[in-house]
Amino acid sequence: MSTDRIPVMIPWLGEEEARAASEAVLSGWVAQGPRVAAFERAFAERVGAEHAVAVSSCTTALHLSLVALGLGPGDEVVVPSLSFIATANAVRYVGAEPVFADVEAATGNLTTATVDAVRTPRTRAVLAVHQGGAPADVHALRAACADWDLPLVEDAACAIGSTVSGKPVGHGALVAAWSFHPRKVVTTGEGGMVTTDDGAWAERLRRLREHGMNASAAQRHASTKPVLESYLEVGYNYRMTDIQAAVGLVQLDKLDAMIARRRELAARYERLLRDVHGLTPVRDPAHGQSNFQSYWVLLDEAFPVGRDDLLAALAGAGVSARRGIMAAHLEPAYADHPRAPLPVTERITRDSLILPLFHTMTEAQQDRVVTALREQAGR
Ligand SMILES: Cc1ncc(COP(=O)(O)O)c(C=O)c1O
Repeated sequence: MSTDRIPVMIPWLGEEEARAASEAVLSGWVAQGPRVAAFERAFAERVGAEHAVAVSSCTTALHLSLVALGLGPGDEVVVPSLSFIATANAVRYVGAEPVFADVEAATGNLTTATVDAVRTPRTRAVLAVHQGGAPADVHALRAACADWDLPLVEDAACAIGSTVSGKPVGHGALVAAWSFHPRKVVTTGEGGMVTTDDGAWAERLRRLREHGMNASAAQRHASTKPVLESYLEVGYNYRMTDIQAAVGLVQLDKLDAMIARRRELAARYERLLRDVHGLTPVRDPAHGQSNFQSYWVLLDEAFPVGRDDLLAALAGAGVSARRGIMAAHLEPAYADHPRAPLPVTERITRDSLILPLFHTMTEAQQDRVVTALREQAGR
């Protein structure tokens, strides 16, 4: 039996991505240019949005989305604490206050009830996450936000290829932010995207990512006449490079195969872990399907070992699992931040762990993970 270490995630990258990156380099145009434009078109089509604006990360995608909404000091934005810290930080970047709402145990996502519980007259937006790829119930959230007259921003960092009612996450979103970090399903090394159906927003987002300029460097380069750009507002340098976009285009072509394999492995975990007491795996919610970017299991009292001891035992058996999703309110950066009780968030972050799942994972590797886990479960 192999004793090689099983990683929690490896991106599925190969010769094709290497060739595409090399072609971008050899073309002589490596900054944001034609490949970024092509990646944006392909991405928008894939998620069913009218426009896609490529940026340097999901963190910057979230920041620009909140700038575009005009949020600032004195405004409150309802966010889950149960998320990578970038979700809450983006609210801070615009000077607004993140207000932490609890999540449902099954998906780790906000619900209309948890948002409603912390909404105040100062609430100006709701920022919902599709946690680990498990789709949030955006139909319910969009309807409630419409009633409350609040914009809904979707943090879809983990959710490329996940669906809600048969439609891709991103379809019908006011604005959604995406990540291409290597821990995500589609990677460009680092990178992000904002999608929206609103043309005026897309134009503003394009300007904001490029120093507030009214003509991009690529447009100026393509013009045969001198273009004297002007700077319409204070913007940022949040651009993606053409080398990244070249890789992203290849990755997007592989997305269907990646989702199919991830879902197959998730279903196999579910089967192999079904009779283990005290352990509940994340599953598709009734309203949609997950890409299983993060396959987590939640432990309860019936499981004989605590989460951290289980992680240590798995590491000892050569299995790289990870603690479950973090909770921002428990980190020093948010220690003094006022908040309502968040019992489900605290339970998930304390008692869950993420198991290895990656495209090239073999059944033998998956069996090793299951065996190591079952040993700790005492069966
Ligand atoms: C829910 C969520 N939002 C935002 C981010 C930040 O993404 P990026 O690393 O592309 O900035 C992550 C990354 O882990 C995430 O999981």
